[in-house]
Amino acid sequence: MGRLDGKVALISGGSKGQGAAEAKLFAQEGAKVVLADILDDEGKKIEAEINETGGEAMYLHLDVTSEADWAAAVRAAVDSYGKLDILVNNAGILLRKGVEETSAEEWDRVQDVNSKGVFLGVKAAIPAMREAGGGSIVNISSIAGLRGSTSTAYGASKGLVRLLTKSTAVQYGPEGIRCNSVHPGIIETDMTEEMLDSVGREQWLARTPLRIIANAHDVALGVLYLASDESRYVTGSELVIDGGITA
Ligand SMILES: NC(=O)c1ccc[n+]([C@@H]2O[C@H](COP(=O)([O-])OP(=O)(O)OC[C@H]3O[C@@H](n4cnc5c(N)ncnc54)[C@H](O)[C@@H]3O)[C@@H](O)[C@H]2O)c1
Repeated sequence: MGRLDGKVALISGGSKGQGAAEAKLFAQEGAKVVLADILDDEGKKIEAEINETGGEAMYLHLDVTSEADWAAAVRAAVDSYGKLDILVNNAGILLRKGVEETSAEEWDRVQDVNSKGVFLGVKAAIPAMREAGGGSIVNISSIAGLRGSTSTAYGASKGLVRLLTKSTAVQYGPEGIRCNSVHPGIIETDMTEEMLDSVGREQWLARTPLRIIANAHDVALGVLYLASDESRYVTGSELVIDGGITA
């Protein structure tokens, strides 16, 4: 029996990295998965991979900064699979710049994708989850959303995700809609490739008590727990998956 049998999940930023890992893991665990992104070719490949290996998945184009795209994505999940139980707000962009190096335009772009994109996703999903009798929203923040960092706009956007998560949890708990945030440390994906190369893997390992640079699957396992009914008493929480960096 799968841990997500009978569930329908929508995952933003599902074409690669952590979102793709979550899409594959959720499908293996019995969920019907809608993966959505702006990278259409990559997303269709993940869709095909899941469907060819016994899972059920559908790719669709979603720019998380567009309220109309979110409405269409939620409608597609409900029309195709009958309901929506799970939303993973995973799409995100990184900007590694300090306060004075960050332009107003760059600030706006990061907030648009990383925080407004999550707000729009939550807002679009709630009516469908209410209709389904409850649901689970997992918002991907970062350890940069828990403490100060040199990535100014990114850290601020991820801090917003943390508190938006808690506001959603207190407002919608009575309707059986849970909302939790996940705070990954350094995960080896396209997003961190350049950073890992410039800082050096040895340096990162030395800063990480567990001496591991994690992969996307390590985070997907935590997201799976929060998405599933195993976490039915968990809402408004912060799951830190960082090898002990913030400890
Ligand atoms: N990699 C890390 O070390 C790390 C650490 C902490 C948090 N995170 C967060 O995890 C999430 C996933 O990151 P990743 O490491 O898999 O990076 P990634 O770059 O591999 O994947 C990000 C995905 O988001 C998509 N995306 C970007 N802008 C979008 C938009 N406007 N609309 C829809 N999709 C969009 C991209 O196309 C891509 O598929 C992000 O929110 C990121 O901030 C990553």
